[in-house]
Amino acid sequence: TPLDKIRNFSIIAHIDHGKSTLADRLIQRTGGLTEREMSAQVLDNMEIEKERGITIKAQTVRLDWKGYVLNLMDTPGHVDFAYEVSRSLAACEGALLVVDAAQGVEAQTLANVYQSIEHDHEILPVINKIDLPAAEPERVRAEIEDIIGLDASEAVLASAKSGIGIEEILDQIVAKIPSPKGDRDAPLKAMLVDSWYDPYLGVVILVRVIDGVLKKGQQIKFMQAGTTHLVDRTGCMRPKIEQLPELGPGEIGFITAQIKEVAQTMVGDTITDAKKPAAEALPGFKEVQPVVFCGLFPTDANDFEKLRESISKLRLNDASFSFEMETSAALGFGFRCGFLGLLHLEIIQERLTREYDLDLITTAPSVVYHLTLTHGGGQLELHNPADMPDPNRIEEIEEPWIEAVIYVPDEYLGPILKLCQDRRGIQKNLTYVGGRAQITYELPLNEVVFDFYDRLKSISRGYASFDYHQIGHRPGDLVKMNILVNNEPVDALSMIVHRSAAEARGRHMCERLKDLIPRHLFKIPIQAAIGGKVIARETIAALRKDVTAKCYGGDISRKKKLLDKQKEGKKRMREYGSVSIPQEAFIAALRMG
Ligand code: GTP
Repeated sequence: TPLDKIRNFSIIAHIDHGKSTLADRLIQRTGGLTEREMSAQVLDNMEIEKERGITIKAQTVRLDWKGYVLNLMDTPGHVDFAYEVSRSLAACEGALLVVDAAQGVEAQTLANVYQSIEHDHEILPVINKIDLPAAEPERVRAEIEDIIGLDASEAVLASAKSGIGIEEILDQIVAKIPSPKGDRDAPLKAMLVDSWYDPYLGVVILVRVIDGVLKKGQQIKFMQAGTTHLVDRTGCMRPKIEQLPELGPGEIGFITAQIKEVAQTMVGDTITDAKKPAAEALPGFKEVQPVVFCGLFPTDANDFEKLRESISKLRLNDASFSFEMETSAALGFGFRCGFLGLLHLEIIQERLTREYDLDLITTAPSVVYHLTLTHGGGQLELHNPADMPDPNRIEEIEEPWIEAVIYVPDEYLGPILKLCQDRRGIQKNLTYVGGRAQITYELPLNEVVFDFYDRLKSISRGYASFDYHQIGHRPGDLVKMNILVNNEPVDALSMIVHRSAAEARGRHMCERLKDLIPRHLFKIPIQAAIGGKVIARETIAALRKDVTAKCYGGDISRKKKLLDKQKEGKKRMREYGSVSIPQEAFIAALRMG
């Protein structure tokens, strides 16, 4: 395709503003799929994505419109996948900015717009959902101009749902988004935008060709990974797969090259010709690192192998999460897994539960701490509270911090500020735009991974929006808190907390556990402790009625039978010395309220 006939664009939007629906409409209008095939949303093709309505993996569709080739690149909307968003945006020359006519500009709208501007995009505002009775397109138009500073006088008024404004959007893309630049005769230079595992094709790689040509039979080299591969297919998605003889400069499409694992492909890598390589790689490459870790254990110890297999399978399609085996005195064998963020964690956990039918216990999420040891012991990265060295071996602990931007309607501002303060936040900025406050806070990631997002949503009744990025590690007065049940530490419940928050969290945890652990035949103390010092304590009273009492003490086997019977319906219990803790207790205890 000649360069001047190509337009590459993505759609940026806050979650739920209608990105996927609009993408589907564009595909439908340009004839990529029949009405019947359109029945389900096409771009979000994983089951969970559909159910949650969240785009996780970037996908691209080639659209034909009035003699032009339009490549629509879907980008993930959530902060956990910020780097994938950034790479997808780097592959385009323009973006549709979709804003909900009833909601207006939100935190992720802004975060995405700024990224888009950084990539020098031509941005076309689209005011969506104008069919809604609550739509206020003129107010939203003004917001786009005032808050973002974009000219919105030609913003398309659209309804992705009812199909209003779709042709105008397509025409604006052709008229306003610049065509890509590139040199067909230069050495091949293409960006690896995304990759996924397909059971029939193997690993499929989404690429944006900058210079040169990609063809079947070509030896290619991944410049960052340093590996070479033989291309065996080139093509595009409409969204059905279609093979093409080649991919030229400016084009977006896929290749396959007999690659076995997604882990061999790194998003942002530069693909070049192995025989005639480009002089330098594309800028901006970074390896994604997990930022949140937790342990995943099978409820039933017999499921360990099944868990191992399932995790390995999931990893085939998602190289951004990591796992290694872990043993816990309390929970037995499991895996320590690393994720890009909390949503990423939830998605993986949910897929394991649902697609692989596993019952899991998840330990408290933890961030990556940097430890400096005393006596020149060097530096240590800590992913698991259980590995925390003795306190007197630690010179300093550093924890990751983020900068968060929150949008919230005025009436919820007070409680949101309090939430941020309670989580050790440092307020950086507070301004008003329309009827809403824009707050910027620096926060320790440690305080955010628990339930910050849930709290934010519930305090603001869903109206607050939130976006963040990491700003590096800072020293903090952090300690490891152990939870002891019947005087035995439960390793799965130990956590690293700020000293100032330890007592409150410890007390809370003990109170929770008191309600969650069923009574036993004896009294059970529950304690929170830092080192040898108990900072909170509760006691579960003994059961008054002993089911074995009527056995007159004599008949041991009968006694045992009764106790066994009592055990039934307690299958999901974990034994701690002599105390059984139901799985629900773990989950509930780990969810800080
Ligand atoms: P993520 O993929 O989660 O980022 O969301 P999204 O931005 O892709 O939103 P999606 O297309 O899934 O739409 C969110 C909700 O808004 C869905 O329930 C859609 O049916 C609805 N919706 C989308 N466009 C319109 C519209 O023009 N009018 C109305 N009334 N509803 C719409």
